[in-house]
Amino acid sequence: MKIAVIGAGYVGLITAAGLAEIGHQVICVDDDTRKIEVLNSGGMFFYEPNLGDLVKRNQGAKRLEFISQVEVALEKCPVIFICVGTPPLENGDADLSSLELVARRISEHARGYHLVIEKSTVPVQTGRRLQKHFGTYGNNPLFQCDVASNPEFLREGSGVEDFFHPDRIVVGVDSERAAGLLEEIYHPLLRQSFACPVHENCGNRPRVPFVVTDINSAELIKHASNSFLAMKISFINMVADLCEAVGADVEKVAEAVGMDRRIGAGFLRPGVGFGGSCFPKDLQAFVRVGRNSGCDFTLLREVERINQSRIDLFIKKIKDELWVLRGKRIGVWGLAFKPRTDDVRFSPSLAVIRRLLAEGALVRAYDPQAMEKAKAVVPEIEYCSDAYAAAEGAEALLALTEWEEFLRLDLTKVFQIMARPLILDGRNMFPRARMAAHGFEYVDIGRGSPARKHLQMVP
Ligand code: UGA
Repeated sequence: MKIAVIGAGYVGLITAAGLAEIGHQVICVDDDTRKIEVLNSGGMFFYEPNLGDLVKRNQGAKRLEFISQVEVALEKCPVIFICVGTPPLENGDADLSSLELVARRISEHARGYHLVIEKSTVPVQTGRRLQKHFGTYGNNPLFQCDVASNPEFLREGSGVEDFFHPDRIVVGVDSERAAGLLEEIYHPLLRQSFACPVHENCGNRPRVPFVVTDINSAELIKHASNSFLAMKISFINMVADLCEAVGADVEKVAEAVGMDRRIGAGFLRPGVGFGGSCFPKDLQAFVRVGRNSGCDFTLLREVERINQSRIDLFIKKIKDELWVLRGKRIGVWGLAFKPRTDDVRFSPSLAVIRRLLAEGALVRAYDPQAMEKAKAVVPEIEYCSDAYAAAEGAEALLALTEWEEFLRLDLTKVFQIMARPLILDGRNMFPRARMAAHGFEYVDIGRGSPARKHLQMVP
């Protein structure tokens, strides 16, 4: 099928390359000509495992092209996925101006039948507004369209994997024609009948559920899913604080609680809280939708409040150890909001760093992928060439993004080069026993009282 994907950001690029990989002819459009040039010269402008290869292979096979003229794509493609950004406005609402602009272009240039699919995360009833928009502005008699919602559930860092092996594919439609087209588009994924580009030996995969709903419900499923996951994280963070206060181990608690199939094991890792371009924004937007619809969403406001207080709590832990921060050298491992991405939007690590800077601390940081993006928003810290350089001479080291690389470090060396061998682990990434064996003072989240109180220092 000939498909236009509008927006070559994180979601658009994975969607475009993934649809090309399963056999469609895809034109990906972005009006940022710099992005298009980078993609057309074989480059990438953000880090995402497996994506660069996928893009190149499909460009090479002539199934995927990148252009900046939307009208060219509309002329060739009856199916349009809208994947533009919907960032938060100051009041928490989603900014839908890019989406509206795309809708205007479609109503200006499209001829004949088009299926317009919103993949960007949008508040419920956006599809209805799009339909109204096309009804009002689509005055070209040759233009006919169906609007559909097809929310994405791609995690940064595992987005390509998630595209090929989704837990479900949700489509919100109000015509059989739209449902039929979407089923045809996703047929290879639903049957898992494609050669998996990510995993070797990926046979015998179960079919993927195809959930067909009305448009409003599909839009709501996305916000409800992200808000529920965020709620799980704030819940376990609340429990972690209690574990710490009474001397229990949150890891054991989370493991056993998660074994209940009604609850599930995922998203019960405590730490400095959730960040990224999705949870904080979607939670706020969902709360606004609730409020605007006269529904009581206090529960989700608490989820947000608990998440914000994670930073205060972590700063308190640092101050409990270091007392005055002014002039102290503090190392930071990890800047991205989570591992396997270079994205620093709403990163808890940057939130901690900004607080340290406000207190006059000297911060030296390292991240395997996110340093360029961090430099653009927090230029005033020292960026180090590796994890050891960030640790050198530090009076405390903060572990804030759980990159695998940090688990493979030579901790004997880290112990030797630090001014004070104190590690505050905001992601519980190291086993306590290992840190004890190396002689570190080690402060983590909810795994009982601070480890050093019980541990013997090893010379
Ligand atoms: C999230 C959802 O997981 C995706 O399904 C969704 O498609 C995406 O948002 C989106 O709306 O586009 P993402 O933001 O990439 O994906 O990252 P997650 O893996 O969900 O992590 C979000 C944050 O929660 C990170 O800061 C992570 O460190 C934190 N987290 C996650 C925890 O603190 N504890 C956990 O147990 C899990």
